[in-house]
Amino acid sequence: MKKRILTFPKGFLWGSAVSAYQVEGGNIYSDWWAWEHSEKRLAELKQNGKDPEKYQSGDACDFYHRFREDIGLASNLGQNAFRLSLEWSRIEPEEGKFSSEAVGYYREVLKTLRQHKMSPVVTLFHFTVPQWFAEKGGFEKKKNIGYFLRYLEYAVKDIADQAEFWITINEPEIYSTHAYSLGKWPPQRKSALLSYRVMNNLISAHHDSVGLIRRISSKPIGVSVNITDLQAEGVFSIPAANIVDYILNKHTLRRMAGSLDFIGLNYYNHAHISWFGRRHSSKTHHVTTDLGWGVHPEGIERVLAKLAKYSLPIYITENGIADAADSRRAKFIRDHLFYIHRALQSGVDVRGYFYWSLLDNFEWHHGFWPRFGLVAVDYSTQARFVRPSAHEYAKICRSNGFTIST
Ligand code: FCB
Repeated sequence: MKKRILTFPKGFLWGSAVSAYQVEGGNIYSDWWAWEHSEKRLAELKQNGKDPEKYQSGDACDFYHRFREDIGLASNLGQNAFRLSLEWSRIEPEEGKFSSEAVGYYREVLKTLRQHKMSPVVTLFHFTVPQWFAEKGGFEKKKNIGYFLRYLEYAVKDIADQAEFWITINEPEIYSTHAYSLGKWPPQRKSALLSYRVMNNLISAHHDSVGLIRRISSKPIGVSVNITDLQAEGVFSIPAANIVDYILNKHTLRRMAGSLDFIGLNYYNHAHISWFGRRHSSKTHHVTTDLGWGVHPEGIERVLAKLAKYSLPIYITENGIADAADSRRAKFIRDHLFYIHRALQSGVDVRGYFYWSLLDNFEWHHGFWPRFGLVAVDYSTQARFVRPSAHEYAKICRSNGFTIST
């Protein structure tokens, strides 16, 4: 058997990602916190025989107090970059009352990353908003965008010298659908029209944020989009697949692309589309994650090839697997990187890979059970355990590549 070394470009970013609400703990002023404790949510969980505590973020991973240790772990694992988000509700817990302590905390986190020579990637909106903002109608109302910009004005200037990359919005399409048309996330609305309106407002918020950030910082600005690799089931399904592809994958990015310095790609899903537009996501999957999501690494190459037309640098800002047994994670990472490398060879400008996630964490409406972490967390003690796959990933990060047998 022959061996081949897959080397990544010089300066490639190797990291992992988290979001504030999922790891910090104690974000009591957030709309998610209010929702997790609401009678409606509690009743829903009890009705399904679920223990509400496992679906309340509580202390999460206590990253708020343990960030030094956690960043130290990531650094020891050879990572040279880290993606995190700011929690607006921590920074502005009450309307117009800003917390210098909260911004000071984020400054400390970013400084710690830099001490470890890790490039900080800062996301400004990752699914959660302050409860007071939600009560005003959140992103359903265009006039509310001003509140978002006011928060950014306050937060960004104080950390601007520490951040290396900005991401305005994480997965606008996932947020607007899950919260406003699928009814899974707060405020649990089920209206396609509302969902479309929220999406439009997020796109406007993005453009306004870009203008604001550019006045304060010269660092690159991007957006993280969740793109599904779609394949038509036979030639007759191509038109339907193209329509689904447009709605699901292209629409948002097309409207944002002109303002971007880079594209952040979050890649998790693959689906087959039949001629009447129905999605079959599991058909061709031999391996699934603990969440039942099909594993389809080759799809990332196709998605990257399509993104190449924007002629922007691309960072994989999320890609990961819920795998409590850690039996599939190392292969999952290698396989995705194999196809990313193929995209690179065909000329796609990929500049970094952020595994989701550094730590096991609070996986939104699924609660704590899905285990995405390179590092396992025992939530009863907050002890961390580095999983074997994390060491495998570390070898790749350190050597800026890996060897395959051909
Ligand atoms: C992405 C989210 C991230 C995490 C992963 C599993 O869609 O951006 O917060 O929940 O899925």
